[in-house]
Amino acid sequence: MSELTLPTARQHPFDPPDELMKLREQAPIHRMRFGDGTMGWLITGYSLARAVLADPRFSNRPELTHPPIAARAELSAQLKQQEFAMPPGIFLRMDAPEHTRYRKLLTGQFTVRRMKMLEPRIAQIVDQHLDAMAAGERPVDLVEAFALPIPSLVICELLGVPYEDRQQFQYDSKKLLALETKAEDAMAALGRVFGYLHGLIKRKRAEPDEHLLSGLIEAGELNDEELTGVAFILLIAGHETTANMLGLGTYALLSNPDQLALVRDDPSKVDNAVEELLRYLTIIHIGPARTALEDLELDGVAVKEGEGVALALPVINRDPSRFPDPERLDLGRQATGHLTFGHGIHQCLGQQLARVEMRIGYPALLRRFPGLRLAVPPQEVPMRTDMTIYGVHRLPVTW
Ligand code: HEM
Repeated sequence: MSELTLPTARQHPFDPPDELMKLREQAPIHRMRFGDGTMGWLITGYSLARAVLADPRFSNRPELTHPPIAARAELSAQLKQQEFAMPPGIFLRMDAPEHTRYRKLLTGQFTVRRMKMLEPRIAQIVDQHLDAMAAGERPVDLVEAFALPIPSLVICELLGVPYEDRQQFQYDSKKLLALETKAEDAMAALGRVFGYLHGLIKRKRAEPDEHLLSGLIEAGELNDEELTGVAFILLIAGHETTANMLGLGTYALLSNPDQLALVRDDPSKVDNAVEELLRYLTIIHIGPARTALEDLELDGVAVKEGEGVALALPVINRDPSRFPDPERLDLGRQATGHLTFGHGIHQCLGQQLARVEMRIGYPALLRRFPGLRLAVPPQEVPMRTDMTIYGVHRLPVTW
């Protein structure tokens, strides 16, 4: 058998690569060559994936990382050599107990209650964008008119980042998530975003407001450099993830009209529908990855200290032992337990916010435009196989 590298080419826009589906059928763990040339492991089974994500014998520290695909290897190597000083505070890339300190501070800010309180404002932002769409020309790119600006505005308001400044970080955030971006360009983009956020934190220290970043400054636990790292991860994670779920989710619904009708017509089905779309579409399609901190065993396989373990979430979420008839989009099923938001200490901090945005966004869009449909043949919808977060680059629609 030829040597395995992470398959990324898709045969169908909503399904993981066929090769990954076949691997999942064969075994839950596979020997794989990582992007930096080292050998490690690819996990395709649900229980094993959960076990790895919850196991403190695996690290997420950047200096130990093996990027799963080659496109990211050069950037990762240069960051490892410390040619570029990342600010402290990027807690996604920390292990306990360092991670715990940040997570505790932030969990206090991202409560279900606070997200609930944001609901009326999110509904207002959604309505304003639907009004603008209705008043504008057809066809329209739904990503530009709806899917990107909504999460972008919401995260900016939550953090207290002026939305007018978005040009300063939307362009760079796109560069950072594009797999083809050269290491030097990615580092230049990082430098610009950090510079912008550092300046913003300094301004907020002088002139506090009622938003989250000021709240963190007031808590007095973090210095300006640490706060810059925290602001960076929240801003990038808050933008591109939910935006891609709104775009790709709408495309999936338009392609499955009977399922679409459930979301449009039955409010009691919406919570389930959102979970199932998260499971079925699993937009985090490259990684997460971890590194073994000691020799250990996974499902009878010996994993050596220092080896990388990558998780193929799109097929893990279609493991038939956890989700019966997994290839079917079934908005009526109980899809909770999917790993789209990860698991363990790094499980997504923004998941409640993302859910609220989708629970409001999808039905509002479908009710306002009952005749919503693609304005191009499906094969012309450009898919984001070239980005770390999967989705659609554009979704031309009309009604
Ligand atoms: C549909 C939308 C989203 C998806 C699919 C998603 C997915 C994920 C995943 C898989 C992880 C874990 C990564 C790992 O274990 O290596 C994660 C972590 C994280 N997410 Fe999200 N996310 C979404 C929305 C958001 C939003 C809206 C925010 C913003 C506020 C956010 C903030 C974060 C943060 C801060 C972490 C790091 C948590 C930690 O290390 O403790 N995410 N997300």
